[in-house]
Amino acid sequence: MPSSDTVPPAPGRSKNLVRSKNLVRAKNPVRVWLYTLAVLVVAMVAVGGATRLTGSGLSITEWRPVTGVVPPVSEQAWTAEFDKYKGTPQYRILNQGMGLSDFKVIYAWEWGHRLLGRILGLVFFVPLLVFWLRGLVDRRLGYGLLGLGALGGLQGAIGWIMVASGLQPGMTAVAPLKLALHLTTASLILAGLVWLAAGLRTGASEPAPRRLRITAGLLPILVLVQIGLGGLVAGSKAGLVHNTWPDMDGALVPKASDLFAVSPWIENFVDNVTLVQFNHRLVAYLLVALALVHAIDARRRLPASGTARRATGIAGMAVAQMALGIVTLLLAVPLWAGLAHQVFAMAVLMMATVHARLSRGAPRSTVATSAAATAAFGFEGMQGRSA
Ligand code: HEM
Repeated sequence: MPSSDTVPPAPGRSKNLVRSKNLVRAKNPVRVWLYTLAVLVVAMVAVGGATRLTGSGLSITEWRPVTGVVPPVSEQAWTAEFDKYKGTPQYRILNQGMGLSDFKVIYAWEWGHRLLGRILGLVFFVPLLVFWLRGLVDRRLGYGLLGLGALGGLQGAIGWIMVASGLQPGMTAVAPLKLALHLTTASLILAGLVWLAAGLRTGASEPAPRRLRITAGLLPILVLVQIGLGGLVAGSKAGLVHNTWPDMDGALVPKASDLFAVSPWIENFVDNVTLVQFNHRLVAYLLVALALVHAIDARRRLPASGTARRATGIAGMAVAQMALGIVTLLLAVPLWAGLAHQVFAMAVLMMATVHARLSRGAPRSTVATSAAATAAFGFEGMQGRSA
């Protein structure tokens, strides 16, 4: 095939060619930046999970996006913060008698989670501005990034609405639905970042056949749904009941009167721990089944291809995540298992998203691409040489 080195560009095309060469070169730092943001989001999810599992999430009773970056330093400032916490129902009902040193520990988790959020905001906006001013963000990528930036701002607000729900009279924890929304929005941002990053990988690849593309696209959607349901399990502490598997305290499928014990029926999906846990189990089986069928299909239709390798990787990760969920349930949610299950869900989501994006193929570039721009990061490495 003739390369751009051997065929001189038509005079009118030369300007465009220089611009598109610049864009190709720019793709690598942009991709590194997007994947760095993705790693920061996973770190936030991990610290957020630890904050929840250590019961620390309601220790800071105000939302001060700017001035809140400075933690209390003097003993006087600590006492003032502790006094505010003593006014919350969680302290009065669950933590009466807690000492200042224990309060400092729960405060540190929540403060660390919020600090990471601020860092994430900076690492998003400052390089975005630099890349934009240098003309390295094309219109399509720009819209995607603006959408993610808006979602990030919304996520901060959802976080505070969630915390505020836990400070209401009589509440000792945040509302499960709000926790699930907060976790699902974080996951959506993560999926968006890796989708954009994988889409910037240059070098031609054929799209996978239609059926494989569709099932590959369904996988991250189902993982997102499952993460939302997992957030409901975590938020309603449904992992502390029915700690048996594959049955739920003797029944493979609980009685309808148990699944829909609450009235009106719709509230069972959030408030009835039996249905909440049952739904999370069902979607897990569905997800694992889809991942396995997709992997078998990919291996048959495109043997020894990048698509088949990635599909097999996702199926393995989905099975591992299911096993981790079962261990978490059987052990009644120890900190390590709850955290591992939450963080590994993010890995499954990233892998499924990269796979869905790469399965759509990439156009052949009109210019010679640098080795850096075609380099595979992380899960993309399973892309191999062929689609
Ligand atoms: C295979 C796909 C699965 C995915 C993607 C997934 C994902 C998640 C996520 C994201 C959470 C929320 C974690 C948090 O907020 O701390 C969660 C919670 C949970 N999941 Fe799963 N899960 C899967 C399968 C399972 C299975 C098969 C079981 C058990 C039968 C299970 C049991 C649990 C339990 C007990 C919790 C609550 C943990 C806590 O309270 O921290 N999961 N899951």
